[in-house]
Amino acid sequence: MTQTEDKVEIQDTPLVPIEKVVSLAKRRGFVYPNSEIYGGVAGIYDFGPLGVELRNNIRRYWWWSMVQTQDNVVGIEGSIITHPRVWEASGHVENFVDRLVECKKCKHRFRIDHLPAENLEQHKCPNCGGELTAEPRVFNLLMETYLGVVEGERMKTYLRGEACQNIYLDYDNVQKSSRMQIPFGICQIGKAFRNEITPGNFLFRQREFEQWDLQFFVHPSEMQKWFEYWKQYRFEWYTSIINHKDRLRLRAHGPDELAHYAKQAFDVEYRTVLGWQEWEGIHWRQDWDLSRHSQYSGQDLSYADPITKERYIPWIVETSGGVDRTFLNLLLDAYEEQPDPSGRAGEVRTILHLHPWLAPVKVAVLPLQKNKEELVTTAKGIYKNLQRLMVAQYDDIQNIGRRYRRQDEIGTPYCVTIDFQTLEDQTVTVRERDTTSQIRVAISELPMFLLDRVTWK
Ligand code: GAP
Repeated sequence: MTQTEDKVEIQDTPLVPIEKVVSLAKRRGFVYPNSEIYGGVAGIYDFGPLGVELRNNIRRYWWWSMVQTQDNVVGIEGSIITHPRVWEASGHVENFVDRLVECKKCKHRFRIDHLPAENLEQHKCPNCGGELTAEPRVFNLLMETYLGVVEGERMKTYLRGEACQNIYLDYDNVQKSSRMQIPFGICQIGKAFRNEITPGNFLFRQREFEQWDLQFFVHPSEMQKWFEYWKQYRFEWYTSIINHKDRLRLRAHGPDELAHYAKQAFDVEYRTVLGWQEWEGIHWRQDWDLSRHSQYSGQDLSYADPITKERYIPWIVETSGGVDRTFLNLLLDAYEEQPDPSGRAGEVRTILHLHPWLAPVKVAVLPLQKNKEELVTTAKGIYKNLQRLMVAQYDDIQNIGRRYRRQDEIGTPYCVTIDFQTLEDQTVTVRERDTTSQIRVAISELPMFLLDRVTWK
């Protein structure tokens, strides 16, 4: 993974309030509240025209790094609904719970693992100071659904609470059909559903969200080596797509934080206005998953080493992150407001310093004037040519300064201006978003110039 050569280091900027990003996301078509015309549903969002481009780029870059360029990793796409026994075997029916206390006065509910220790000890509400209920109520986060149409014969099952379960279910088929030998990995990107009691902070904690998982199957004696390897690899992966490297860290879980399947865990954490928060979990799942599914299904999921003939249940290193949390963290990392360069009082230049690899629109093509036919014809020709290679926009509304501002606000890394010199020497002005520097590039060289900068390598 390398950075493009002209990516500049962004000066340290203050932590961005989430509301700024929520507002930009709606105004410019990144994210909308789901079912907004009916009043919305907490913790569920839709992605607009720019959001879907950004999301696809984030997913594709992950897939490229985790599957396409790895020799011993393959991908699957499993279904959201599975046999209900899956969730008994996985431990989720029993253990996937939040414990909540309620304030007797203001009726707010709090997860006890999110309450400051002093409030928990004194049963004191952090919201109004009222008394909290002493005994926590236990809520399971799995979302129930029913298969079948005939009342009384319908089968209760669950929308998957973590996407990775499909990988264990398909492990044996993948190993045999793809002739994979241990160590090897299986990746998947897919939706997960949780009845979060306290959804909130925009995309941070949702009820429907998307996860990316690698499950890497190893011999128990190699567990430590591969755990270290993937921990480091994933940390560097996140480092490669953010501006504020000092806001990223790895943190080991304490024994009381470990999920029921994990013997050890590290979080990749990112610092925002919400404080340090989990972005991805690296889990030492050991033989929990394949042993439990062997036990509950009655199928032998052990692996027979073709060379040593040893038979064993593989141990698993998991790296599990959120597409939506990546989306949110990237917006928070990229957002900056600067005084407007034109000097107009009260106006700001908002910039999204998104990595050119991930930016939803790669290039905007702008004729200097829209009433000069030759400029417009040339600009439209360049736009049509670029559109086949990358996501491009054509804009001829308002003056060039305003058009640059509009592109800066959605993170477009390059603007191409067609001016009168273009008509004489067949060159265009290419303006870079972060530095605002401008250079002239021959029209014939423009596609390669841009592709080189907006494509990961
Ligand atoms: N298979 C392991 C697993 O699911 P997790 O820590 O519960 O582990 C992994 O989830 C990642 O999924 C988190 O690091 C986070 O990025 C994302 N995630 C979890 N719950 C989420 C939610 N309610 N909304 C958005 N993203 C969530």
